[in-house]
Amino acid sequence: MPLPVLETRYSFFTGKGGVGKTSLSCACGLGLADSGRKVLIVSTDPASNLSEVLGTELGSDPTAITGAPGLYALDIDPEAAARDYRERMVAPYRGILPEAAITSMEEQFSGACSVEIAAFDAFAKLLGVPGATSAFDHVIFDTAPPPAIPAPADAAFGVERVHRLFHWRWLVPRATRRTGATEGTLCGNGGASG
Ligand SMILES: Nc1ncnc2c1ncn2[C@@H]1O[C@H](COP(=O)(O)OP(=O)(O)OP(=O)(O)O)[C@@H](O)[C@H]1O
Ligand SMILES: [Mg+2]
Repeated sequence: MPLPVLETRYSFFTGKGGVGKTSLSCACGLGLADSGRKVLIVSTDPASNLSEVLGTELGSDPTAITGAPGLYALDIDPEAAARDYRERMVAPYRGILPEAAITSMEEQFSGACSVEIAAFDAFAKLLGVPGATSAFDHVIFDTAPPPAIPAPADAAFGVERVHRLFHWRWLVPRATRRTGATEGTLCGNGGASG
């Protein structure tokens, strides 16, 4: 199978579970690094297996991949991003508000929705903050599979799912258009979403 030629600085590999997003992100990243480019692969998947696939333990900062000069990768860690986000929100009030109010604020910023927002905040920084990825010629996003669209009567249709749908159906497509990114929508076993 010929690899897609990634000519833009940002690329997104999207699609339903198991279609080959991670495999192709890594294959394309390796191909670009082999041709002398400096490449960063970013996993936005909370259940990332990028460390296993690349054979190098990853964190939330770019890590050089063993045996692949020019190739770097990171995992966005939603829990760590949520802890940083919570601390940024609460820290200015420590020593000013009563301890009970601080505890209450920490609880407010500890829900599933806060974790989603914090992870998106980390993702948006890599796209939007000048200098965040300026050391790299290419940034490849290996994304999480999108949620199945639930039937309206589904009682579990909650804020978190609305947020995830907003993220994948509205924000990511617009981010790819605004940055001129290539979006690798992968098809397999009946076609992928993305
Ligand atoms: N082009 C391909 N041909 C055959 N098998 C493939 C191909 N690409 C990936 N696979 C296999 O399919 C499985 C899933 O691949 P991969 O983990 O890359 O998918 P994914 O879309 O990232 O999955 P997830 O949605 O769970 O993150 C793996 O076992 C991988 O080896
Ligand atoms: Mg994957």
